[in-house]
Amino acid sequence: MNGVQAGPPGSGQGSGKVILFGEHAVVHGRPAIAAALSRGCLARAQTTTGAGAQSLLRVEPWGVQVGSAEPEADPERELLRRAFAVVCELCSSERQVVSVQGEMEIPSGAGLGSSAALSVAVIRAIDAALQQSRSDADVLAASLAWERVFHGNPSGVDSAMAMATRGGLRRFVRSAAGPVLTPLHTNDVVHVVVGNSAEHGSTMAMVTRVAEHLQRDPARTEAILDAIGDVVDNAQRALETADFARLGRLMDENQGHLERLGLSTPKLERMCQSARDAGALGAKLTGGGGGGCMIALAADASRGQLIARALSDAGYAAFVVEVSG
Ligand code: MEV
Repeated sequence: MNGVQAGPPGSGQGSGKVILFGEHAVVHGRPAIAAALSRGCLARAQTTTGAGAQSLLRVEPWGVQVGSAEPEADPERELLRRAFAVVCELCSSERQVVSVQGEMEIPSGAGLGSSAALSVAVIRAIDAALQQSRSDADVLAASLAWERVFHGNPSGVDSAMAMATRGGLRRFVRSAAGPVLTPLHTNDVVHVVVGNSAEHGSTMAMVTRVAEHLQRDPARTEAILDAIGDVVDNAQRALETADFARLGRLMDENQGHLERLGLSTPKLERMCQSARDAGALGAKLTGGGGGGCMIALAADASRGQLIARALSDAGYAAFVVEVSG
């Protein structure tokens, strides 16, 4: 990195997330159920001098570096630069120059909340390097400002989960007064298989697609969003009673609604079917869709391993996540 390191390093972390139910509808005020992953992003920050007037962000393993004040020709890098510049502006009132290094532990464009995890890790690392403390509400506000650059109209579920205790199930609702995050209780561990289609999904493009449906055909689209909201409420009850057979059927139902909104892909459909053929109780895409990851519900740990193996035999990276209330 350019510049001379001037202060002690600070570090921060943000978690990736998996949405079990309710993505997209959550942007439009319906609830969602999600869990924070045990991996996400780690960041280290240091104040620097001699780096010019700008702060620097390097992200590995992407091999990408951006300077807060130097516009990028590549559109994706320019989004990252603008998001970083917004956060630097919010986090360093005295305009101190920082050099930040982020290490991603989850893939990007996969529906696992990489952008929000990076934002929370960067914000916390900058705060630590500047020896300032920020309330959770302010970390969330800064993360949302970053996410608005990437996604236009984020519900805040990714940012909230990037800050949440790892592995715990949460119900999330967007509201005018701010996000409402409620811990969910279940008597049993939930085994979720995550499979990556390796197709790059753009959350911004998919959120825009739903907004266009709402404009063109509001009655049909609102009805689908309401149906997803009902699925989430029913899924909460199934989780609380550890009724996994019902939970699996609700996953399939949720996937049907997402498919009707044009958010699935042939590959994601095939992956969901492979998982069901391998014994999954239900399967659906997770996150923004249009590519990225799908999830499948397993009855227990050994069935989870079998489903993950079936997906990896079909050529997809897969892993099992255990979540609980
Ligand atoms: C993306 O992880 C989840 C979406 O519902 C968008 C959002 O909530 O901001 C698709």
